[in-house]
This record gives sequence, structure tokens and C-alpha cells, in this order.
Amino acid sequence: MKIFISGVAGFLGSHIADAMIADGHQVVGCDSMIGGSLDNVPGAIDFHQVDCNQFDTMVRLTADCDVVYHCAATAYEGLSVFSPHLVTQNVFSASVSLFSAAIHNRVKRIVFCSSMARYGVNQVPFRESYAAKPEDPYGIAKVAAEDVLRNLCGVHGIDYTIAVPHNIIGPRQKYDDPYRNVAAIMMNMMLQSRQPIIYGDGQQKRCFSFVDDCVYCLKEMAFSPKVVGETINIGPDEEFVSVLELAETIANLLQFNLDPVFVPDRPQEVKLATCASDKARELLGYRTSMSLKDGLGQMIDYIRARGALPFKYHLDLEIINDKTPKTWSQRLF
Ligand SMILES: NC(=O)c1ccc[n+]([C@@H]2O[C@H](COP(=O)([O-])OP(=O)(O)OC[C@H]3O[C@@H](n4cnc5c(N)ncnc54)[C@H](O)[C@@H]3O)[C@@H](O)[C@H]2O)c1
Repeated sequence: MKIFISGVAGFLGSHIADAMIADGHQVVGCDSMIGGSLDNVPGAIDFHQVDCNQFDTMVRLTADCDVVYHCAATAYEGLSVFSPHLVTQNVFSASVSLFSAAIHNRVKRIVFCSSMARYGVNQVPFRESYAAKPEDPYGIAKVAAEDVLRNLCGVHGIDYTIAVPHNIIGPRQKYDDPYRNVAAIMMNMMLQSRQPIIYGDGQQKRCFSFVDDCVYCLKEMAFSPKVVGETINIGPDEEFVSVLELAETIANLLQFNLDPVFVPDRPQEVKLATCASDKARELLGYRTSMSLKDGLGQMIDYIRARGALPFKYHLDLEIINDKTPKTWSQRLF
């Protein structure tokens, strides 16, 4: 099959591309390079450096494709209350552009990567049947993109499926990005012999999933007849850990003497966020094979091999006031 993947220079997009190539599919991909890395782009794909907002190019690139994976996004939940224009144009507008192009070309299926930010402050573990209650522009933009996808696919008769990945970790995740990826930021800081910075009291809790455990499910979402029109959480519901416990596990793996720097909470940060995995287990055969500790160990090996890096403040803050985390306004990372 011919598979189009947006955001293919990013973490998930590049792993999906590898899996598709390994299965003998032809892959076309795009990335605007607002994030990601060209090193992540598999050599065997037809790669185009282009923004999904360029509708005409999306129409050209998705022509003759069987499946469109939409992984591209500025996936910055915390930042989205300070840079809402930047985030929503790369989450909502970019999604509608690609969906429209894919439907114009009558692809067989669209697979959209949404986010657990869709659930907001719902009761944990988040279930797919819960009404979306996003708490910030990133989550609101993802839910709006989901709604447009459901609407357009219903009107025009195209199959779609919505993945809700959550806190996936592993090699290729950007670790010099100060706005996202808590585990990678902590590793990069500790490898520079710097104490990690924790927002609030560090008791906010998450489940982290290793990328290899998720890619199989994401791949199945393109082909399985059982998942058409479904929204499915992708990731584990075991090992619900606090950010402080995460820091302790990383410090133990690095034999680092931990004494974190605590800074005020970020506005709108959801305290408890984990997703039920029952639907993924039932429809996609999801299972957790990698423990959190072993997954973090693999990530550390990846970052060590490339070397710790200074953080790059590559995105502009649109709103700066007393609510803006000093980690960003004063570039503390
Ligand atoms: N990794 C996770 O734990 C996680 C959790 C929830 C949701 N998701 C979703 O999964 C998808 C992939 O996430 P990821 O972790 O691989 O992120 P990533 O940042 O590693 O990759 C996203 C890629 O999209 C590209 N991009 C951004 N805007 C673009 C645009 N307008 N046009 C073209 N390319 C653009 C970036 O340059 C980047 O390479 C995203 O949609 C994200 O919201 C991921």
C-alpha cells in the first residue's frame, strides 16, 4: 500500500514510517521541521519538507495514497495557553487542510493522532466513552479537529480512526525542547549535571508508554476493519507515577544525586491523567511489554549516545505575563 505520514520527522511519525517500510509498504511523508529532526526521517521514504497548511501541496502528495496518517502537530499542551495562535494553526488548521486533501483524493482511511488532552479534568482512568472536556487551546484544537474529521468522513464516506496516544517515550523524542517531553528534559538536565525543574509539588501523575508497545497498535489502526470510526486510547494503564517519582527513577538509573528545583504550577495543568487501555487491548491486541524503568533506560542510552544538548527556545511566546512559567520567559532550562 502507499501510506502518507505527516510529521514524519517527529517521534511517532518516524517510528510508524519504519514499521510501514519493514512491512513492505511505500511511504510518502512531510514535515514542516518546526519540530522533529531530519535524522529521524527514514532514508527509504519520499520526504517533502512542507507545512500541512499548504493545501495544494497536500492534495498533490496524498494523490494515489491508500492511507493518510496525520501525526504532525505542535503538541505543546502547557505552552498552548501562552502561544495559542502558533499551536492551534499547527493542530487545528493543519489537520483540516490534510483531511480535506485526503478526502478530495478519496483515500481508503485517515488515521488521526489526537491527544489525551481531549479528556481534560475527567475522572481517571480516562475512557473513550467520556465526553471531551479539554482544558487548554491544544486540547480544544485536537477535539475540534476530531469533530471535523468525523463530520467530513461521515458526509463524504471515508473511513477514519482516531488514536489517543498518551505520554509515549523512547528514542528519537526531542530532548532539547524546553516546552515538552518531561522525561527527556529531565534526562538532558541530569546528563548536564543540572538538577531537574519540577512544576508544582511534582505530585501530578501520568502513565508513560514505550514507543515499541504503541507502534504495533498505531499500525493496526490503518488496516483493521474493527476500528473504523473508533477513538482508541493508545498506551498503558499500569504504573501510574508522579512526576517526582519519574525524576527519582531517572536519577537512580543515572546514579544522579537528586535535589529537584520546584517552581510554581503551570496554569491549567491537569493533575491526574491516565487512560484506560481496555479498548486497545480488545480491538488492537495492545499489551505492555516494556516496564517504565527499562523504557527510560533505553531513552537514556539514546540521549547518551548523542550527547546532552543545550535547550533551544525555538518557539515564540505570544502572551507574556505573571502567569508565564519563568522556565520559559527567563529561559531557565
Ligand atoms: N508522543 C506522545 O506521547 C503523544 C501524546 C499525545 C498525542 N500525541 C500526538 O501524536 C502526534 C505525534 O506526536 P510526536 O510525539 O511524534 O510529536 P513530534 O513533535 O515528535 O512530531 C510532530 C512533528 O510534526 C511536525 N509539524 C508540526 N506542525 C506541522 C505542520 N503544520 N506541518 C507539517 N509538519 C508539522 C513537527 O515538525 C514534528 O516533527 C501529534 O499529533 C501529537 O499531538 C503524541
